[in-house]
Amino acid sequence: MSLKSKVLEILERQRGRYLSGEELAHSLGMSRNAVWKAVEALRRDGHDIDSAPRRGYCLRAASDVLTAEGIAARLPEEMRSLKIFARGSVDSTNNEAKRLLASGEIDGAALVVADEQTAGRGRQGRSFFSPANTGLYMSLVVRTDASFADAVSLTTMASVAVACAVESLTPLRPQIKWVNDVYVGDRKVCGILTEAVGDFESNTATNVIIGIGVNISTENFPEELKTRAASLDVELTRSALAAEITARLIRFSQDLTDRGYIEEYRRRSLVIGREITYTVSGETRSARAVGIDESGGLEVLLPNGEHETLRSGEITVRLAPQTAGDGHDREV
Ligand code: BTN
Repeated sequence: MSLKSKVLEILERQRGRYLSGEELAHSLGMSRNAVWKAVEALRRDGHDIDSAPRRGYCLRAASDVLTAEGIAARLPEEMRSLKIFARGSVDSTNNEAKRLLASGEIDGAALVVADEQTAGRGRQGRSFFSPANTGLYMSLVVRTDASFADAVSLTTMASVAVACAVESLTPLRPQIKWVNDVYVGDRKVCGILTEAVGDFESNTATNVIIGIGVNISTENFPEELKTRAASLDVELTRSALAAEITARLIRFSQDLTDRGYIEEYRRRSLVIGREITYTVSGETRSARAVGIDESGGLEVLLPNGEHETLRSGEITVRLAPQTAGDGHDREV
């Protein structure tokens, strides 16, 4: 580990507090001059580090450079050894994770984050708008011995992990639109794309890549997203959010058979009790969403009194006028 990295690691763990040059130098077994040089190099990388006479150095709370050290410092002790790859610009963090798996650099749980994605991917072949430094673009790789069907639950878990993580760090209360879009009010703030790498003969998803994109301060959305997407728009560093989501998701993933997260998923549902439309084999159906089953399936009541459970796909939800604030129903 470089000296710069070691200094950053300590400053990150003590974020918002002053540490004297002497203290830093002593704990790292280096000279004060070497500490000063490392701090200068970190500043050149964009870290907002204050220095004050007799107090020392302080990494300011709002400093938002996305690094492996910054994320690791916020993970619980038992997760600090997680392999973290922090990139500048990549096509897609899910693609980068796949490349790292193929090259053997990832051989267990790992996290890939990037400042920017030039070809961020969404569900159903869509793209994910990922401009530099305004959103969190992350892919968590989880090793499993689950069947492909059981691995699907990681997607549901991820939406709960994101919603709870955002709520723990901000005054917001995110909700989840089935299957796994995270909303604040009537706008989508986060999308999740889960991909499995596996062995079809044994029907095992050996590695699951959970790709998560959160709009933190993104502006100027493309025309087609302007009325649907939004940003959290609160003071929040990407490292803090990445760590909070990762810690929750790793805990969930340790036992895929534990369905405890489903209760939280239900509590946060933007869908239950509302009128929805969806398409089955080319036929558009309207129904009322009435519940979420233990596997995350959406239970709906059709106008003829019959029930059915949706397992995948996309739905449109009708929201009451007060949510849209314009006197009209709004669909999301
Ligand atoms: C969707 O809303 O359709 C899913 C969007 C998923 C976006 C994330 S950003 C990090 C990861 N890398 C990608 O290319 N996509 C996912």
